[in-house]
Amino acid sequence: MSYLQAVRVAPRVWWVGAIDWNLREFHGYRTGRGSTYNAFLVMDEKITLIDTVKAPFYGEMLERIASVVDPAKIDYIVSNHAEMDHSGALPRAVAELQPEKVFASTMGVKALAAHFGDALKIEAVKTGDQLNLGAGKLHFVESRMLHWPDSMLSFYDADKILFSQDGFGMHLAGSARFAAEYSDELLHDEAKKYFANILLPYAPRVTELLNALPGLGLDIDIIAPDHGPVWRNDYAKVIQWYGEFARQRAEARAVVVYDTMWGSTAKQATALADGLIAAGIKVDFACLHQMDRSDVMTLAMNAGILAVGTPTLNNNLYPSVADMLTYMRGLKPKLGMGFAFGSFGWSGEGVKQVGEYLTAMKIEQPLAAWSVKYVPTAADLTAGFNYGLELGNALLKTIAGSPAEKE
Ligand code: FEO
Repeated sequence: MSYLQAVRVAPRVWWVGAIDWNLREFHGYRTGRGSTYNAFLVMDEKITLIDTVKAPFYGEMLERIASVVDPAKIDYIVSNHAEMDHSGALPRAVAELQPEKVFASTMGVKALAAHFGDALKIEAVKTGDQLNLGAGKLHFVESRMLHWPDSMLSFYDADKILFSQDGFGMHLAGSARFAAEYSDELLHDEAKKYFANILLPYAPRVTELLNALPGLGLDIDIIAPDHGPVWRNDYAKVIQWYGEFARQRAEARAVVVYDTMWGSTAKQATALADGLIAAGIKVDFACLHQMDRSDVMTLAMNAGILAVGTPTLNNNLYPSVADMLTYMRGLKPKLGMGFAFGSFGWSGEGVKQVGEYLTAMKIEQPLAAWSVKYVPTAADLTAGFNYGLELGNALLKTIAGSPAEKE
């Protein structure tokens, strides 16, 4: 008998997923605490597996299932999300376990066929459809673009458990399966990082879903995401955090992100940060030599000011700054205001290119970019301090005049 065990998360529901302790990279996202791929086994008259795991973890999932029931007895598999960290093991599960039926959303059927071919013979379900499992029913709710076109939620009414795929999840490998076993600070930080790096482009859809949830008539006791811990009677806090993340309200906080060749742009960044601090703005300082793009992205979410500094290298912005801005542009953050700065030797295109990225991201730039030739003088740094002061004051004025502040 395997030592790998399932973990009961509700009277009829078991966690049968896998722990990826060593995962450190997830399509551009630095996963410093690893991750889990959560699959759930519903032990009703129709034994149902909700999602699978990344392909190499098929054996781990199977052994955990076997600690509860013979895996060949699985009747149904529901694929809530076609991304391969949850569907990679699906073809093998279908081939070896031969479930009676496999279900996915309409878009899921197409996405899974595109990944694995038509042989899986998946049945499409849509919002409002119900699947009778015996003691309880599964209720399906499509959640398109949260965060793939196929994404879907499933609610098992007998145990009042919402299987939310990526939603409300986080990349966190750990020995504990329930949110209550981690500190709120850790949960908040990892949920925020997950939101900033995965869900942010679809923040308005998150707001729509949060607003729609009470009207769906789902009497939820438990939220079981596909990554990280399961939320029991404490799920209200992650719902509240999601509301705040999705609102993208500009905070009295600046992120100064930069890289440097010979220290000139670093000196500019410091002068700028000093000016911002003098204005009463909290500053997060991010040198791309030391910080990963996904951590910078987490800092940038909801920042009132994004100041981006680059040296010019061979007529271009610095590679690490280009990487950061390309990544950030895709995640479509809604930020209060931006500022481009940097140093150059003889041509100076880098700072202009930073400004173009900020424009492409629809981030207002109230001040002209700040460029310094070779090495900043004391007068240059004083000017930089004043840029920080001016930007900080402009942000405070904007926040004071915003409708949210007047509420
Ligand atoms: Fe966890 Fe969108 O996959």
